[in-house]
Formats: sequence, C-alpha cells, structure tokens
Amino acid sequence: ARVGVLVSGRGSNLQALLDACAAADFPAEVALVISNVPGVKALDRADAAGVPHRVIPHRDYPSREAFDAELDRALRAAGVDIVCLAGFMRLLSSGFVTAWQGRMLNIHPSLLPSFPGLDTHRRALEAGVRLHGCTVHLVTPDLDAGPILIQAAVPVEDDDDEDRLAARVLEQEHHAYPRALRLLAEGRVRVEGKRAFLS
Ligand code: GRF
Repeated sequence: ARVGVLVSGRGSNLQALLDACAAADFPAEVALVISNVPGVKALDRADAAGVPHRVIPHRDYPSREAFDAELDRALRAAGVDIVCLAGFMRLLSSGFVTAWQGRMLNIHPSLLPSFPGLDTHRRALEAGVRLHGCTVHLVTPDLDAGPILIQAAVPVEDDDDEDRLAARVLEQEHHAYPRALRLLAEGRVRVEGKRAFLS
C-alpha cells in the first residue's frame, strides 16, 4: 500500500511509520508526507528518510473545504491509498473524511472513548484514572470516535506529571501505529457498525 502521512509538528509517530516501512517485509511504503505547518521537525524526518514531502499551509486557503480539496488532490496525485494522521492538528471536513473512510487512520493519546480531543494527559491526571494509553482508530466524521483497531494501556503512577505520562504513552504509540497500519494494509480489518474486527 502507498501511505500518505499528514503531520503538523514533531513527527515522532511519522518516524515510527517510516522506520516500520523501511523493513523489507512491511506491506506499506510512505509515498508522501504533508504538513499544514511549514518548518516542522516532521518534514526534516521525511527528508532524512528520502520520502517526498510538501507543505500545504491551511492559511493559504479560503475555507476548510478548499484546503481539504488540495490535500485530496496531492494524495491522489501521489497514488496514496491509505492516509495516516500523525499529530495532524486540523479538523477535516466531512467530505474529505467520507472520501477516505475505511482507508484513514488516526492515533489518539488516550484510551478512547475516554478523553477525546486535546490535553488528554492533563485530563487523565485530573480524573485520577489508573490506566491511560493510546488508540489507533479508523477516522469517521465523528471526532475521535471511529472503529478502534488497536489500544495500548500504561499505568498512571502517583508521581506522574503530564510530561512523564505523555512519554510513557508515546512509547506505546510508536508500537501501536505501525501494527495498525500493517493490519489495514494487509486487508485484515473488517468494519461492522462501530466495531472493527481483525483477522
Ligand atoms: C501524539 O501524541 C499523537 O497521539 C497525537 O499528537 C501527538 C503527535 O506527536 N495525535 P508526534 O508529532 O507524532 O511526535
């Protein structure tokens, strides 16, 4: 499969996907990295891996739909068949999401359906949960609510702060995302209603 990765920042999950795709037996390759923010570290990572990358600044477009249309054009021009959102900090229009539904993954830093949205680690600490983690799910028009492929849990320690907890979760993200991409690329994901079934 040819994968397009959408990023906005640090790109550590992009790096995990690039590293996984570099293995000879991995069923996917990163065909294009797109950032909506110029100058971010994720673009350097794509460059270092020799992967095509471009910036599509959302500010250059009059509407969300116009920006998403350009994303769509760029992905199709690169022959992309699976899209991975990896720290991509823009909401996508329902038209774009529908066009890629079943072929678009997101990684979210909580055990969904707990803590959708932003500031997940702070909110997990405030809620006093003993388990936290990450989720890789298919993207549907409902934010952070699509069928779940993989979750990984980590303990919350009494002396955790946001940064320590985030680091523990991030380590799991870097394992979970390539595993989920492999499942999707190998056609081992079937969706029925809100659930994903893996074979
Ligand atoms: C990760 O925690 C991811 O789960 C969330 O945004 C963060 C991106 O980090 N969606 P990175 O850019 O992959 O390093």
